[in-house]
Amino acid sequence: MKLRLGEILSEALETLNRLDDIGAIEACRVRLLGRKGELTQILKGMSAIDPKERPIIGDLANRIRNDIENKIKERTSFAEQRLLVKRLSEETVDVTLPGRYLGRGGLHPISIVLNEIKDIFMSMGFSIAEGPEIELDYYNFEALNIPKNHPARDSQDTFYITENILLRTHTSPMQVRVMENQKPPIRIIVPGRVYRSDAVDATHSPIFHQVEGLLIDKNVSMGDLKAVLDTFAKELFGLSTRTKFRPHHFQFTEPSAEMDASCSSCGGNGCRICSYTGWIEILGAGMVHPKVLRGCGIDPDEYSGFAFGMGIDRITNLKYGIDDIRLLFENDIRFLQQF
Ligand code: PHE
Repeated sequence: MKLRLGEILSEALETLNRLDDIGAIEACRVRLLGRKGELTQILKGMSAIDPKERPIIGDLANRIRNDIENKIKERTSFAEQRLLVKRLSEETVDVTLPGRYLGRGGLHPISIVLNEIKDIFMSMGFSIAEGPEIELDYYNFEALNIPKNHPARDSQDTFYITENILLRTHTSPMQVRVMENQKPPIRIIVPGRVYRSDAVDATHSPIFHQVEGLLIDKNVSMGDLKAVLDTFAKELFGLSTRTKFRPHHFQFTEPSAEMDASCSSCGGNGCRICSYTGWIEILGAGMVHPKVLRGCGIDPDEYSGFAFGMGIDRITNLKYGIDDIRLLFENDIRFLQQF
């Protein structure tokens, strides 16, 4: 037995010394030390050996196994080293080659204009709020003084999800949500996506963007509304911009108005962009209706305020002379790269 163990060791060392391939070394390990390996079998069969011999043989077998394991470690690290040297010599990198060009991203034109609008209102002390695009009928219509079956609903073709849940048709529901949760003074703008069931053409898209504004405080008048929105138009389109307010109707404001700005393309002389009128419609606005205030728990005898809403897609198109709203949604990189 002692003899056989000696042979195993010398054979193993001799074989391993010749091997320099990781796979072959592993195969050799399995053959000797694996579950069915010769040395393992000897160690397992110790009970059959004469009890007097057992400690000596056991000790020898263990030492031999350690010797073989050490040799395997040594040869494996040698093989790995060899492999690395080989790989490094084959995979040379030409560090003088120019890098691959990574295209630089930019902001979408709607984001550019939206950022400008946010900056203008933030400089006037407004903060920014956001609300859900999937909205309750109550906030989108009811609380804004547009009851069920009211003809004013017709002007906003609505995507209904259930009878009481819909995709918001404007950002105005956030007026109510904010007033329900916040005591005056209130000064917020609400940018966001809105949805209307319109057929797609050059000026209509079922998804578009609005910015809502709401200011509630003591003694707020129509004069404040005009001053804030005139300042806004001058900041956005240039200081020579003039504005005019036309009477209009919204269910949730009284009185209501639409604001036109002098055409920034022709300075008001008339051109293709303003359909030769010199004016461009920018937004709807008005003094928040006392009924809406009361519904939100705000006393209209103590507080008053104004609200406004504008379409960002249209304003973006005006600013950049884009004549088709669809371009804003197609995400054609050749179009977007121009901004
Ligand atoms: N929500 C209105 C619309 O989408 C715009 C508006 C907002 C009008 C706030 C008045 C006050 O047409």
